[in-house]
Amino acid sequence: MLPKRRRARARSPGAAAACSTPSSVLFPDVAIYLAEPRMGRSRRSFLTRLALSKGFRVLDVYRCSAPEGPAGAGVASSEVTHVVMEQTSAEEAVCWQEQEATLHPGCPCPALLDITWFTESMAAGQPVPVEGRHRLEVPEPRKRPPNPVAPAPAPAAAVMPAYACQRSTPLMHHNSSLSEALETLAEAAGFEGSEGRLLSFRRAASVLKALPWPVTELSQLQGLPHFGEHSTSVIQELLERGVCEEVERVRCSERYRTMKLFTQIFGVGVKTANQWYQEGLRTLDELQEQPRRLTRQQQAGLQHHLDLCTPVGRPDAEALQQLVEATVRQALPGATVTLTGGFRRGKPQGHDVDFLITHPEEGREAGLLPSVLRQLQSQDLVLYHQHQRSRLGDPSRLAQQSHTMDAFERSLCILRLPLPSKGADPESQPAWKAVRVDLVVTPWSQFPFALLGWTGSQLFERELRRFSRKEKGLCLNSHGLFDPEQRTCFHVASEEDIFRHLGLTYLPPEQRNA
Ligand code: UTP
Ligand code: MN
Repeated sequence: MLPKRRRARARSPGAAAACSTPSSVLFPDVAIYLAEPRMGRSRRSFLTRLALSKGFRVLDVYRCSAPEGPAGAGVASSEVTHVVMEQTSAEEAVCWQEQEATLHPGCPCPALLDITWFTESMAAGQPVPVEGRHRLEVPEPRKRPPNPVAPAPAPAAAVMPAYACQRSTPLMHHNSSLSEALETLAEAAGFEGSEGRLLSFRRAASVLKALPWPVTELSQLQGLPHFGEHSTSVIQELLERGVCEEVERVRCSERYRTMKLFTQIFGVGVKTANQWYQEGLRTLDELQEQPRRLTRQQQAGLQHHLDLCTPVGRPDAEALQQLVEATVRQALPGATVTLTGGFRRGKPQGHDVDFLITHPEEGREAGLLPSVLRQLQSQDLVLYHQHQRSRLGDPSRLAQQSHTMDAFERSLCILRLPLPSKGADPESQPAWKAVRVDLVVTPWSQFPFALLGWTGSQLFERELRRFSRKEKGLCLNSHGLFDPEQRTCFHVASEEDIFRHLGLTYLPPEQRNA
């Protein structure tokens, strides 16, 4: 019996064999065709073997079956379901497809996908759903370097500034499988309390997100900021093998999985999760058996865990905005409610919903939050809430507020979001779901700083603060921009004003996905 790899190879390419079939086909509905032009033959056979070892079918030729039945009666069909290309622009991909269409007239066109779909599927061990960012037909947001065979690294490196707040980072980018690998290592470093390593990996991942083209060769990293030895070797392995052993090992490890499980619980940070891990706890059931050890917040988190770890969609966030807005306006006419966090950056989903509440007449916002909460409670919409009083009383200390904890009055809630009933059998669907909501109240004069601070991303905020401190000698937080030497604070009317004071080009929220 040949080892798996040899068996696959013995059957595969060769002019006669048109299809490489794994020893057991796990995904019969998926047939991958790896388009060779820019991939190269050896890379293609490597990727073919990788896919086979994971139970995928790979077609060696792009073929189209003849119409069945009497001439013209049947419909021609392509067996290929996913065409995967590497280092190929959308324009080139479409050209390729047009050529194939002339060779196989009447054949339906399968999806044209970037290699990211392939590598993500290999890492996931199953075909991942095709998203817009995988598709090559979508026109690219920015032009590639002129020579598509080897995208020139020099110009990108030369214009890639070191701080994330100095560059645009869109939500959809060209290097998701690479950046996700580095972010896994960042997260794992965070679980071990290694803040330095966490930041190094996260900064390198963020540079990849800002690149206007996919990284396909190691030389393209040359000159990019924040790429140390470790991050570079991870990318090298991913480019050469499609997977990185260290990343896979971390993802599968009991330590990482348990820490991820525990830190996902509302009210549980790395410290608590680690303590539980050291005590031998591994599952939610084991935690639930010791309710006395949990804070009220953690108990609520566990009680609604299933809902809370299901991502909140944009429609849910908008429904909540209407609900909160109506309640706030009723309690204080003229008050405004702004959706911030990831949703403001254009994310289609989030782990919670963040709202900033203010009123144009400074001072009128005082006392608003308790009455909003009472109102929501009277409608039975509050499953849990924890009120934190404002600590704005001492203005001289506002400059010292840490970036993680500001002094605004807030309520950390779990709200009951009523769900619209969808037709036939209302009994079979839940009538509501639990959603984590942060309600934060800011005085009007601090609103632009709060908006900037709460829009994120977290790394973008850290970088913005680091830039202010190191490059401008200023202290920025969600309350203001302070000059520690002059002991003064800048007055601003908008986020644009803050960028201007810092000498930065304004970045709209959707470009802050660092
Ligand atoms: P989130 O943790 O809600 O992240 O904080 P997010 O970007 O919206 O992502 P998901 O989709 O919910 O997971 C949003 C921003 O608010 C800031 C964070 O730094 C982040 O930039 N924030 C959060 C604070 O300033 N203070 C807090 O107490 C919490
Ligand atoms: Mn959020």
